[in-house]
Amino acid sequence: MKNKIIAGNWKMNKTRAEAAALIEELLPLVADTPNTVIICVPFTDLDTALSLTAGSNIRVGAQNCHWKESGAYTGEIAPSMLKEMGVEYVVIGHSERRTYFGETDATVLARTKAALAAGLRPIVCIGETLAERQSGRMEEVLTRQVQEGFKDVTPDELKNIVVAYEPVWAIGTGVTATDEQANDAIKFVRGVFADKFGGKAAEELYIQYGGSMNDANAAGLLSMSDVDGGLIGGASLVAKKFAAIVHAHE
Ligand code: 13P
Repeated sequence: MKNKIIAGNWKMNKTRAEAAALIEELLPLVADTPNTVIICVPFTDLDTALSLTAGSNIRVGAQNCHWKESGAYTGEIAPSMLKEMGVEYVVIGHSERRTYFGETDATVLARTKAALAAGLRPIVCIGETLAERQSGRMEEVLTRQVQEGFKDVTPDELKNIVVAYEPVWAIGTGVTATDEQANDAIKFVRGVFADKFGGKAAEELYIQYGGSMNDANAAGLLSMSDVDGGLIGGASLVAKKFAAIVHAHE
């Protein structure tokens, strides 16, 4: 089995002072893990995160980037701006962005391509809603999200991408997918990637689970054969909880 990639998605939380306190507490707690540790922080915390984690095993990510290199796009951030700062990862296509900010498979693809071109590693989120799962459309939705959202991605580019399977019904709800539900869905997604990119590329691809993962359920989820890591929201805002998830499967 691969080592895991454990990423915290702080969402719209933590001022600079709060970010510094959280990172200072986290650094010694995760220093000795073989797993990859990433914190995806608000834009305003990137500078703080980068300077406090310099020389450590914590990698830093942003939570979005635009697809253009520059221009009249008020409020947006270009991938090159992140890259120049030293940011390594960027979350793309989170369900909250799809739901509240009009993100589509096409914009996810455009942002992903631009992030890759700038030398960033995208963490691309996919996942079905409760209604889609209950109406038996989960596989159709996940297939579309992969086929459309990764349409122009090359096999070489895929090596620099992490995928996060986040069922929308499990995000921030306290309802976690069971170990088997997470594994089955990720296995299915891996099969769609295998159809598009070949079996070896799909095997090597990191696919995380996200949705109410916490210090109590992480060990079970991360022990599943196809779950290559976690994308953690709420529990990543508490150093001890996030550290416990980082160490849950080593
Ligand atoms: P929660 O862990 O708060 O459910 O959030 C998951 C998530 O959306 C991570 O991107």
